[in-house]
Amino acid sequence: MDTTFKFSDDNIIKAHEIIKKYPKGKERSAVMPLLYLVQEQHENWIPTTAMDYVAEMLNIPPMYVYEVANFYTMYNKKPIGKYLIQICRTTPCWLCGCNDVVKACKKELGIGIGETTKDMMFSLVEVECLGACTVAPVVQINDDYYENLSEEKMVEIIRSLRDQN
Ligand code: FES
Repeated sequence: MDTTFKFSDDNIIKAHEIIKKYPKGKERSAVMPLLYLVQEQHENWIPTTAMDYVAEMLNIPPMYVYEVANFYTMYNKKPIGKYLIQICRTTPCWLCGCNDVVKACKKELGIGIGETTKDMMFSLVEVECLGACTVAPVVQINDDYYENLSEEKMVEIIRSLRDQN
């Protein structure tokens, strides 16, 4: 699935501000923040047409943008839920009970790891250490961290996100 893309008027201004932060001749370094801006604007994912758009904006080969977008897991290359739940499964979180958090998510959402709810509200993925081991177990939902989780807390979080819509 693909779609045409161009930045909104506000994001065009933001994109040019981002590009200006880099020295003359090094504008290609703006590729990462620009991809992030695309994702913010485009329902949390980046279509190939948007990568081409960024390539044209930075005057670089599209392949360079594809490589960056495909290397980093924080860029979503296909449609995902409004809320991307990233569950840390690395040892400290595992020792502190992340399996209960996974169980709560699967049960409450009715989906497995790597899946998205039919209403496109939630996607569930496993990730490596989120860098917040002292407050394990941890999940990241979009830009926010939720810490010291339990099965019950995770269910509450999902329900409160659902209620906001
Ligand atoms: S192991 Fe989960 S945040 Fe570090």
